Amino acid sequence: MKIAIGADHGGYSLKEVIVPYLLSLGHEVEDVGCSCDQSVDYPDYALPVCDLVTSGKAERGILICGTGIGMSIAANKVRGIRCALVHDLFSAQATRDHNDTNVLAIGERVVGPGVAQEIVRIWLETPFSGGERHVGRLNKVKKIEDQYAGQTT
Ligand code: RB5
Repeated sequence: MKIAIGADHGGYSLKEVIVPYLLSLGHEVEDVGCSCDQSVDYPDYALPVCDLVTSGKAERGILICGTGIGMSIAANKVRGIRCALVHDLFSAQATRDHNDTNVLAIGERVVGPGVAQEIVRIWLETPFSGGERHVGRLNKVKKIEDQYAGQTT
């Protein structure tokens, strides 16, 4: 799978663990930065990852900041992105199964690298169930997105 990944300074160290892990699993990785632990702004890294996903240049995206919260807020502003902030293995599986999430957010200051790797592996391996009720709910989410498209205030 082609995976886009980005982090701010709060997620930089975990990104440096996750990138080689993804490569070891046989995935292709596009790393949009950041490239050191100097302070940067998470939206500047969320957007390029989401653009790669919505354009189809990457199948999935992974975003890491200190808590994962800023990244998930920013990512979910992008049309077509369904981003889940995940810090446990059950949610990693459930959000693919139920929500068909295409971006995963993780907080480096919340989980250790071992748990983060497992979250990433499970999230990548779990297919969307395609269940009728889940599709119906996602269509309702898309309707909300369509309703507010182009709104500037
Ligand atoms: C940076 O200090 C921190 O605010 C950021 O990484 C993230 O946790 C924001 O949600």
